Amino acid sequence: MAGVRTPFAKAGTVLRSVSAIDLGKRAVSELLQRAELDPGLVEMLVFGAVLQDVTAPNIAREISLMPLLPRGVQAYTVGRACASSNQAITDAADQIILGHAEVAVAGGAESLSNVPVLHSAGMSDALVAASRAKNARQRMSALATIRPKDLVPITPAIAEPTTGETMGESAEKMAKLNGILREEQDQFALRSHRLASAGTADGRLAEEIAPVWTGADLQTVVTADNGIRESTNIEQLSALKPVFDRKYGSVTAGNSSPLTDGASAVLLMSEERARTLGYTPMGFIRSYAYAALDPGEQLLQAPVLAAPVALKRAGLRLEDMDLVEMHEAFAAQVLSNLKGFESREWARRAGFDSPVGEVDRARLNVMGGSIAIGHPFGATGARITTTLLNELRRRDGRFGLMTVCAAGGMGFAMVVETE
Ligand SMILES: CC(C)(COP(=O)(O)OP(=O)(O)OC[C@H]1O[C@@H](n2cnc3c(N)ncnc32)[C@H](O)[C@@H]1OP(=O)(O)O)[C@@H](O)C(=O)NCCC(=O)NCCS
Repeated sequence: MAGVRTPFAKAGTVLRSVSAIDLGKRAVSELLQRAELDPGLVEMLVFGAVLQDVTAPNIAREISLMPLLPRGVQAYTVGRACASSNQAITDAADQIILGHAEVAVAGGAESLSNVPVLHSAGMSDALVAASRAKNARQRMSALATIRPKDLVPITPAIAEPTTGETMGESAEKMAKLNGILREEQDQFALRSHRLASAGTADGRLAEEIAPVWTGADLQTVVTADNGIRESTNIEQLSALKPVFDRKYGSVTAGNSSPLTDGASAVLLMSEERARTLGYTPMGFIRSYAYAALDPGEQLLQAPVLAAPVALKRAGLRLEDMDLVEMHEAFAAQVLSNLKGFESREWARRAGFDSPVGEVDRARLNVMGGSIAIGHPFGATGARITTTLLNELRRRDGRFGLMTVCAAGGMGFAMVVETE
């Protein structure tokens, strides 16, 4: 496996004019160039995306149609909310294990600067009726049914369709249920920025980034993440007002992941094919697991159910992990997940007698996480996979655990291994 990503930029900033498809193409082309792989060897491409462009719903196929790749690369898009690129990776790995493919590209792309804005039902009805009209009179009378309220556009909310609760409200609820204080959340956010700043400054994060050229004449080049705040401090963070529960809340813009544009991609091969082509694998997928709970309960707590299963499938324990990478949707969620790992009650719910255990903070998100780096929903899983494997190799570590929480009350965990 090998991986790369575009810079992650806060939505509405430097990557706002680049579509998710183009971000995905950039990540994939850089990946293939860095790997010095003959593109003709790629058999399949799987990509994750959350807020999809309704005019190009199979984003993976659009990416695979870039000039670099042969038209015969079959491609499909997967959606598992924030774990979408994890789903892409495990799908591609499963196909390789089944013997259906030997070389695959998996990843994810998201442009939260370009979310689909929909017409209201009244507007849609009128437009459909007008398009079916047989003459100008019928068309005019169909359009005359449009009322001022029908003109209000519908933008996607980051909310659960079943409960109506937004992600931020869920994070607030989790903070309260698990006793996570505002101060702890801000400290965790500060840590994320500090570690991501250090990882950028010393080149460890920077080396995973593919430059993106933007603007009409492609004269502007974006080379770095723009959400990481080197100079943030606890005073600034603790001064921010809560966003999702303005009166009693603790979740702020500072201790949440920001809305982000970006894409990421990894290259997967059967071990045999990798060795035949002369590659040293960056790492191996040892095991993985998905889990789910009632989204009305603790929406982002399912990594606590997935991690023990992935560890069991790997035949390993938390103590065997040299590094742990957890997606940081919110500091309140990471801290709730960490408490859940230590809890007998959550262990029992996952079907185990003893808890996963206490994660050694010195091994956790050692180059920061989504709070500082950003979180383009569909792309985060592949970003974390690349970072985890690269850092394991740098440290001569062997095993790494990653977890990702996802909308719908879902969670993902994967154990990776380096040689
Ligand atoms: C929380 C959220 C609503 C904030 O959005 P926003 O208000 O546009 O955020 P901004 O980046 O403008 O930050 C708001 C303010 O906080 C400040 N701020 C943010 N992070 C800060 C930090 N680390 N240190 C200091 N100040 C910070 C900003 O400078 C800004 O200040 P200003 O108003 O004076 O300019 C948005 O990021 C969000 O919805 N995040 C959650 C995404 C989500 O649900 N993801 C799903 C997870 S699975």
